[in-house]
Amino acid sequence: MPAHDDSGFRALLTLPQAYDAFQTAIGGDRWRRWYIANLLQPRAGLSILDIGCGPGTMLRFLPDGVVYHGFDVNPRYVAYARRRFAGRGQFTAQRVDAAPIASGGFDVVMANAILHHLDDSEAAHLFEVAWAQCKPGGFVLTYDNAWVPEQSRAARWLIGRDRGRHVRSPDAYLALARRRFSRVDTTLHHDGYWIPYTLFTMKAWRGRDPG
Ligand SMILES: C[S@@+](CC[C@H](N)C(=O)[O-])C[C@H]1O[C@@H](n2cnc3c(N)ncnc32)[C@H](O)[C@@H]1O
Repeated sequence: MPAHDDSGFRALLTLPQAYDAFQTAIGGDRWRRWYIANLLQPRAGLSILDIGCGPGTMLRFLPDGVVYHGFDVNPRYVAYARRRFAGRGQFTAQRVDAAPIASGGFDVVMANAILHHLDDSEAAHLFEVAWAQCKPGGFVLTYDNAWVPEQSRAARWLIGRDRGRHVRSPDAYLALARRRFSRVDTTLHHDGYWIPYTLFTMKAWRGRDPG
């Protein structure tokens, strides 16, 4: 199964401006503010690696003074982000499975709404990269759409139309994170967006101990 489906109306979302406008229309701005305030809790000087950063959408909501590096497979998103956020962040065009498992020393690694675009093998690689790039004592933060039995039919219908072909249950996302991280805090939201939708977050802590 392809990890990603950009056919039909989804092709529009590969355009950076259309992606951002769509996010705003469904309530993504309010969601991002909640996510940042409650889970990221940024401070000046915080260094962040954003895996699958898209057109840099998250940076719009981050305070000045964070040190930000994002990478994404879509060169259009990356070119747009470089223009839009010149001086505020660094952006690289790269696939997750081509990212080296190298020590990066970031306080936080974010992977926002990307796991549902990756098959299990590439998602496992993402957590290896994230673990290596994160400082001991830091954390990895993710959110994705999810399948849960209690969600509305409307939410299931909408999530089924996502570009990502690997939407999972919370347990399946958690199993991926737990291959590398022993402590993972999670939350589940049915009202994150203005539309019927289900969002699942993970905050995976890299302990101070080696290994
Ligand atoms: C739903 S968007 C989320 C974008 C961004 N994180 C945000 O906060 O809006 C998913 C992103 O994952 C990127 N992506 C999908 N597969 C990828 C891969 N294999 N490697 C790197 N980026 C990928 C897409 O280009 C897209 O920007």
